[in-house]
Amino acid sequence: MDLGFGFFIALLSKRMTYQSEIMITMLYLLVLTISRVNGQDADPPLNITFITDAIAKGAVCLDGSPGAYYFAQGFEDGVDNWIVYLPGGAWCNSKDDCLRRSKTGGADGLGSSKNAAPKTLLPIESPNKSINPDFYNWNKVYIRYCDGASFMADVEAVDPETQLYLRGRRIFISVLEELMATKGMANAANALLVGDSAGGLATILNCDRFSSLLPMARRVKCISDSGFFIQAKDLPEDNARRYFASIAAFHELAEFLPESCTQRMDPGLCLFPENVVDDIQTPLFLLNSDFDIYQITYQINPNPPDEEGWKNCTKVFQNLHYCTASQLHIIMDFHTAFLETVAGLNDNPTRGLFINSCYIHDFVYIQSNWQGTPTLQNKTVQQAFGDWYFERSSVQLIDTQHPYPINCNTQIV
Ligand SMILES: *[C@@H]1O[C@H](CO)[C@@H](O)[C@H](O)[C@H]1NC(C)=O
Ligand SMILES: *[C@@H]1O[C@H](CO)[C@@H](O)[C@H](O)[C@H]1NC(C)=O
Ligand SMILES: *[C@@H]1O[C@H](CO)[C@@H](O)[C@H](O)[C@H]1NC(C)=O
Ligand SMILES: *[C@@H]1O[C@H](CO)[C@@H](O)[C@H](O)[C@H]1NC(C)=O
Repeated sequence: MDLGFGFFIALLSKRMTYQSEIMITMLYLLVLTISRVNGQDADPPLNITFITDAIAKGAVCLDGSPGAYYFAQGFEDGVDNWIVYLPGGAWCNSKDDCLRRSKTGGADGLGSSKNAAPKTLLPIESPNKSINPDFYNWNKVYIRYCDGASFMADVEAVDPETQLYLRGRRIFISVLEELMATKGMANAANALLVGDSAGGLATILNCDRFSSLLPMARRVKCISDSGFFIQAKDLPEDNARRYFASIAAFHELAEFLPESCTQRMDPGLCLFPENVVDDIQTPLFLLNSDFDIYQITYQINPNPPDEEGWKNCTKVFQNLHYCTASQLHIIMDFHTAFLETVAGLNDNPTRGLFINSCYIHDFVYIQSNWQGTPTLQNKTVQQAFGDWYFERSSVQLIDTQHPYPINCNTQIV
């Protein structure tokens, strides 16, 4: 136990000497943005496409601006293969929260498609065969996330006071219908729905819907990166449950969540993958850290509360050096709860699992997490995805070796 922790600290202190200044001011999203730009400057960015007649169809962002996506045509023997990507960006759960979000446009605006900039490609979207050997020549679609509810809501009424639209599900379906009608997606041979964080949750919740829209396809599968949010009901506070319940209530999700779950429990609980994945028919891959730093930061709370200390221990420094002994215990309790939750799923042979112990959240954005660390049984994330998708081998890998989180942020400089 001491050895693991000491090793982790030694690793991090070395890094801290030259990185401390920048790490102090760096926020999580900023890290991702910087890395996306640095990692991918060789591939030209994609321009935005607005859904045709989006406003008439009501397929709109929170602020009523048209739903949109980014598209790159497949080539060579990839012309009939399709990747659809659902990005992350958390959620909004109240009038004020969603109103604030609706005013964010720009490059990664999460509530509007206004002033959208061209989008740089993720490694899994790269047309470069050495970066993306399994999917490089596929058609790629990246749907803008601007609804605040993991592409799940479709509320017809618009609140006259706020003018907020809750239509993520309609955006998701409209984009796919448009691609089927105009770009040949109806003839898809292979298809993959993939997403991270809130988009990783969206991938789980929309996986069977995606598959049902492509009945002619030979192989349809889904991959969720860092979308396995757990209830962690035995940990202090029930932040996660209260928060998900408020999302489900505000966006009126009850009728859109899997019925097999809502028959048994409250809609808010049916946003938790542990309560729905056993009923999903389409093959599903779960990539997640069992020390998911986002979940640890936001979904559990030390008791008594110590907000600043907790953020220092988690997302601010991403370094256990800043944690007290009792905070470390909470992190280890999360780890135990996460592994127990995964172990509680049925042992479906079509499921992919790549549960690692990195102290991060989101793996597919950063090239060094895609083709570097983490590895499990020598497989990188990129190899694990391809081996599982094409059934070259079963991939059900869970790291239970590390009592403490390991540092996989090789690109934070
Ligand atoms: C994106 O739009 C710009 C400006 O209209 C254009 O020059 C560029 O070729 C477009 N890029 C792609 C990949 O279509
Ligand atoms: C493809 O990626 C490799 C590895 O990052 C790089 O060395 C090579 O220059 C890239 N090729 C092209 C055509 O961009
Ligand atoms: C959090 O870190 C900052 C910067 O090092 C420090 O000034 C502050 O006192 C820390 N807060 C707590 C509660 O440890
Ligand atoms: C991983 O690779 C190393 C070095 O090539 C090798 O020694 C080791 O046996 C491999 N481990 C597994 C689980 O395949």
